[in-house]
Amino acid sequence: MIVAHTVSALCDALHTHRSAGKSIGLVPTMGALHEGHASLVRRCVEENDVCVVSVFVNPTQFNDKNDLASYPRDLQADLRLLESLGAHVVFAPSVEEVYPEPDTRTFSYPPVDTVMEGLRRPGHFNGVCQVVSKLFMFVEPQRAYFGEKDYQQIAVVRAMTTDLSLPVEIIPCPIVREADGLALSSRNALLTPEERTTATAIIRTLRDSLEWKKAMSVEAVQRHVIETIDATEGLRTEYYEIVDGDTLQPVSDWNESNSIVGCITVYCGSRPVRLIDNIRYK
Ligand code: PAF
Repeated sequence: MIVAHTVSALCDALHTHRSAGKSIGLVPTMGALHEGHASLVRRCVEENDVCVVSVFVNPTQFNDKNDLASYPRDLQADLRLLESLGAHVVFAPSVEEVYPEPDTRTFSYPPVDTVMEGLRRPGHFNGVCQVVSKLFMFVEPQRAYFGEKDYQQIAVVRAMTTDLSLPVEIIPCPIVREADGLALSSRNALLTPEERTTATAIIRTLRDSLEWKKAMSVEAVQRHVIETIDATEGLRTEYYEIVDGDTLQPVSDWNESNSIVGCITVYCGSRPVRLIDNIRYK
């Protein structure tokens, strides 16, 4: 496995593969890798001749300085995991390498980037598009793998890829969960053992809501999910929205679309840690 810290080392590592016509897959990550990332890497290794994994905590997508400062980092552990998974190239650049100059590009993809996370984290998706577009330019992958836990991120990256006419197939991969249902996230490392147990109420409630859907309106299910989670000590819902799976616009009736997803963000514990999750209704 080659570890490249600069764009030029990355290009050197990929040059021979590219000129030999090998297919290249990319898994963009911010490190602190867990089984969720591992599932993306396994799939990338399976479906491409060369699997590139980027490990870069992108400052431009954090609108909260404390969140950026506390984001977990452990490159050595990440490299051990990636080696064991058979990744071929790891790109682990510095901030200066990715942004030699401040990135002044702006990306705007309404309606998918104006709701939910887009509304609550101004600039977040702009930063995601800045870094992902650069990664796509550096690596020139045929396929790029993203976890469905960040459901909205996939829609935004898709819109950006279409907008920039980039020949990259965006491949969504299912959420990986702990045995008790908690969606794997690098942020889970910030939870105390007690908070970690409390957090399982999120997926329990979302799963219960699949039953509630049979007898309740969209609005009633939405309200009931929020009330149930907020009644759990240590949890506070930021939003729960039941949306069309493609446009991400709220639906008001279960028959309004063939693809309906519930997206939630919850603050957990005293720090607090911001957790996101989602569930598909149809
Ligand atoms: O999902 C993430 O970890 C990040 O948003 C990504 C796609 C690696 C861009 O920094």
